[in-house]
Amino acid sequence: MYPVTRTSPRLALRELGIQDVDAVLAIYGSPEATEHLSFEPRTREQVGDIVARSIASATAEPRSEYALAVVERDTNELIGFGRLAMDPHQQRAATFGFALRPDAWGVGYGLETVRLLLGLGFEDLGLHRVWGARSPLNEASAKTMTAAGMVEEGTIRGHIRKAGRWRDSVVHAMLEDEWRAVSR
Ligand SMILES: CC(C)(COP(=O)(O)OP(=O)(O)OC[C@H]1O[C@@H](n2cnc3c(N)ncnc32)[C@H](O)[C@@H]1OP(=O)(O)O)[C@@H](O)C(=O)NCCC(=O)NCCS
Repeated sequence: MYPVTRTSPRLALRELGIQDVDAVLAIYGSPEATEHLSFEPRTREQVGDIVARSIASATAEPRSEYALAVVERDTNELIGFGRLAMDPHQQRAATFGFALRPDAWGVGYGLETVRLLLGLGFEDLGLHRVWGARSPLNEASAKTMTAAGMVEEGTIRGHIRKAGRWRDSVVHAMLEDEWRAVSR
């Protein structure tokens, strides 16, 4: 599916463009925003590569990755990055991730972003299961996925290698019938 456009009351999901590199860098280059993510803060060059790869993957057939800009509708500013990636090992399933610029935290945009991504997965892509993995210390992510109705399923031990150490991940997931129940 290309291009993706989905809206919520205050936000929209749209495809990335090469002009978005600095706005994505404000998230992926931020020590605060990446504290609990699987990687260290990215450089501008790394973010340029991520955005370029995301743009290329958007028109692949079949499309297996949806790396998207989260935009504030009022200002048209990119304030977040959301990603849904088809799970190659499971039928009609995807993993997802999301991150917002720190100055946009705390006003409910995280919950709106998660709902946008779940809506894309279940309504547009016809998925059966969407799941996300968070750091055990990432309280904000746990609360945001729980607030969206996702269920905490358990722990993947030694899932992520970061800063020279293995870290566990906690899995949160939603199934299609659960989405139908919460999005009514
Ligand atoms: C996770 C993130 C998207 C949350 O965004 P946000 O816009 O601040 O979240 P919201 O305002 O929608 O809040 C959603 C819920 O999380 C809670 N929450 C948000 N930040 C929190 C924090 N730092 N500590 C505890 N709870 C927090 C809110 O109180 C709310 O819970 P409630 O519905 O029970 O009141 C944001 O903190 C972020 O981008 N973090 C860095 C990247 C990241 O960790 N992504 C997740 C990867 S798994």
